[in-house]
Amino acid sequence: MVIQFLLFLAFYAIARRLLHKIRGLPPSPFRTLPVIGHLHLLKKPLHRSLSQISRRHGPIALLQLGSRRVLVVSSPDAAEDCLTKNDVLFANRPHLLAGKHLGYNYTSLAWSPYGDHWRNLRRIASLEILSTNRLLTLSSIQASEVRSLLRLLTKSDGQSVDMKSAFFELMLNVMMQMIAGKRYYGENVGEVEEARKFREIVTESFKVGAATNIGEFLPFLRRMGLKGLEEKLMELQKKRDEFMQSLIDESWSGKGDESPEVAAVEGGKRKTLIQVLLSPRETKPEYYKDETIKSLMLVLLSAGTDTSAATIEWAMSAMLNHPEILKKAQAEIDEVVGHNRLVTESDLPKLLYLHCVMNETMRMYPVGPLLVPHESAEECCVGGYRVPQGTMLLINLFSIQNDPKYWPDAAKFKPERFEGMEGVRDGYKMMPFGSGRRGCPGENLALRMVGLTLGSLIQCFEWNRISDELIDMTEGTGLTMPKAQPLLAKCRPRSFTLDLLSQA
Ligand code: HEM
Repeated sequence: MVIQFLLFLAFYAIARRLLHKIRGLPPSPFRTLPVIGHLHLLKKPLHRSLSQISRRHGPIALLQLGSRRVLVVSSPDAAEDCLTKNDVLFANRPHLLAGKHLGYNYTSLAWSPYGDHWRNLRRIASLEILSTNRLLTLSSIQASEVRSLLRLLTKSDGQSVDMKSAFFELMLNVMMQMIAGKRYYGENVGEVEEARKFREIVTESFKVGAATNIGEFLPFLRRMGLKGLEEKLMELQKKRDEFMQSLIDESWSGKGDESPEVAAVEGGKRKTLIQVLLSPRETKPEYYKDETIKSLMLVLLSAGTDTSAATIEWAMSAMLNHPEILKKAQAEIDEVVGHNRLVTESDLPKLLYLHCVMNETMRMYPVGPLLVPHESAEECCVGGYRVPQGTMLLINLFSIQNDPKYWPDAAKFKPERFEGMEGVRDGYKMMPFGSGRRGCPGENLALRMVGLTLGSLIQCFEWNRISDELIDMTEGTGLTMPKAQPLLAKCRPRSFTLDLLSQA
C-alpha cells in the first residue's frame, strides 16, 4: 500500500513536470503533492523560504500553493519584465481574505482590481491626499509629533525605552491628526474613550494581521467550516468601519472643526483629510461616498503606519550596531543644521549621508519584502516563459536587494554604497516602494517622516544599546517585515537639546 502510494506520488510529480515543460511554464520545484502542491516547502518568514526556492530553481519560478498558482520573481530583469511591459497585465490584486473583509469587498485602493474605480481612488489619493502641496500644508503636524517624541525621550533619564512602540505611536498620531485632527497616544489625548476604542482596534488589527490563514490557499477548509480567522476579520472590520463612520459624521456635522488640533491651513480654513474629501461631495457625490472616504482613510492608516515605523526601527537598530555610522550621521547634522535649531523637513535634501543610511536600511530591510501581491489579468510572457491568466505574482524584493550578485558585500550595512545616488530607486535592483502603476503612492510622506524622525533623534540624543550585545536583526513574521525582537535602546539628551525643545 505504502509502495503504491509512493509510486503514485512519483508518477504525479513526473507527469506534472512534463506537462509543465510542454506548456512552456516557468520551472517549478519537483516535490509537489496532491492538493497542497508546494505549500509544504514554505516556512516563515515567507520571503526567505521563497529566496531558497529561487536559488534552486532560478529567478522565475512557478509554485502551486494549494489552489493558487503563484509566480515568484527574484531578479531585477524578471521584475522589470513584470513591472514595465507587463505592468498593466499584472496590475490586478489577487482576491485574498484581507481584501474581502478589510478592503470593502475588494473596492479599497490597495485591493481593488485595476480599472476605472481604482484609477479614481488613486487620483484622489495622489492629488488630494498625498500630493506635495497637501503634505506641505500638513507638515506642521509631522514636526509637532516628532517634537512630542523628543520630549518624551528626554524624560527617559537614560533608562531603556521601547522604541518600537514609540515609533508606531508616533506614526499613528501623525496619520490620525492628518485624517481627523485627533491624537490617541501620549500626552494631551482629547477624548479618552474614543482613544481607548482606537487603540483596541489597532491592537486587534495586529493580532489578526499576524495570523496565517491556510484557508487562503485551501478553500475547501473554509467550506468545511474552518473560518476562525475570517470571522475575526469580519468583527474587526465592523469596528473599524463604525469608528471611521463616527469621525465622518462628526466632521460632516461640523463638530470636528472645533478640535484644537485640526490642522492644514487652507485658504485660512483648517482642514483635515476627511474634510478635504467631504468638500467636493456636493458637486461629485458619486466619487465621495462615505464608504469611499472610509476605505481611503483606513488604507492610509494601515499602509502608512507600521511601514514607516518599522523602517525607522530598522534604521536605528542598524546604526546602534554600527556606532561609527551613527557618529558620521550626527556630524553631518551638526554641520548642516547646527545646535541652534531643530532639524526641519527643508534640511532633508542637504543631509546626504542620512539619505544613504535610509537607502541602505530600505535595501537590507525592505518593509514590503514581497511588495503587495499582484495578479495577471491575461496570459503573458515573463523571461520567455508563459504565465497563465489569474496567476498571483510575488516579486521577492528582499531577495533582489540582498543578492550578492547585484550588491557587493550584500550582508554588510554600508550606507556609503549609495553615495552619489539620488532618490531611492536603482533600476529594478532597488525599489523599496515598488514600481509601475501599483507602486506606493505614500513614498513622499514616508520619506519625510522617516527622514525627519531619524534626523531629529540623531541630532538631539546620544544613543546606546541596552547591553554590550549587538541588537538582534532577525526578521519576525508579519506582512511588513517587523523585527523579531522590538528595539530597546537608551538615550541621553545632548547639551543643547533641552533648550531647543523648550523654545520649539
Ligand atoms: C517606508 C514606508 C513605506 C514603504 C517601504 C512602502 C512600500 C510599499 C510597497 C512595496 C507597496 C506595494 C507596491 C506594489 O504592489 O507593487 C506599497 C503600496 C501601497 N502603499 Fe506604501 N510604503 C510605505 C509607506 C506608505 C505610506 C506612508 C502610505 C500612505 C499613507 C502608503 C500607502 C500605500 C498604498 C495605498 C499602497 C497600495 C497602492 C495600490 O495598490 O495602488 N505607503 N507601499
